[in-house]
Amino acid sequence: MKTNNDSKAYAVIALVSVAVLLFLTWLIYGKEAGVAHDHWASWLPAVNSLLNATTTILLILGYTAIRAKNKQRHIKLMLSATLTSGLFLVSYITYHHFQGDTKFVAEGVVRPIYFAILISHIVLSIPLVPMVFTTLYHAFNKNYEKHKWMAKKTFPIWLYVSVTGVLIYVFLKLFNHS
Ligand code: HEM
Repeated sequence: MKTNNDSKAYAVIALVSVAVLLFLTWLIYGKEAGVAHDHWASWLPAVNSLLNATTTILLILGYTAIRAKNKQRHIKLMLSATLTSGLFLVSYITYHHFQGDTKFVAEGVVRPIYFAILISHIVLSIPLVPMVFTTLYHAFNKNYEKHKWMAKKTFPIWLYVSVTGVLIYVFLKLFNHS
């Protein structure tokens, strides 16, 4: 059952998510791209990829923890995954601020594969923002029925977005030689 408190929380989650997504849209498509060369920020894609890989591991361990009924371990691991995803967002924003977009210039069969991964990654990362907040809200509200219902949708999408985040970096490193 949806309570009054739930409605308020959903409204706050919707507002915060729209603000985050509007900011990211402006950063990527609206703001003048940074073009600083030989800048410390050129290290950030590697950092981003490491953060995504860490999130992937934390999510898998967090899931196996709750399957093993280890609630304390589940909480610690899922909150750590939220932290590494949050740090990823900060690092991603910083990189875009200084260096702008990375073009994929490779030709051939890798090109449609890369864009299929990139587009699915971007499309799924949009609903993921409010989904993570909602999953956390129900957990902290001790409404574990709702938490479990939401988490079962959030978990696979989050896992997909973090794994494809690593894959995008690997594709850029392996195939993007201009
Ligand atoms: C956004 C981060 C989180 C994700 C993605 C997540 C994911 C999940 C998933 C997928 C399940 C269901 C496991 C199954 O199939 O049996 C679950 C259950 C559970 N989670 Fe989380 N969780 C998160 C954060 C938390 C937090 C912060 C808490 C506590 C404060 C928590 C407490 C629990 C509990 C107690 C259950 C067992 C519910 C039951 O079986 O009745 N989770 N979680």
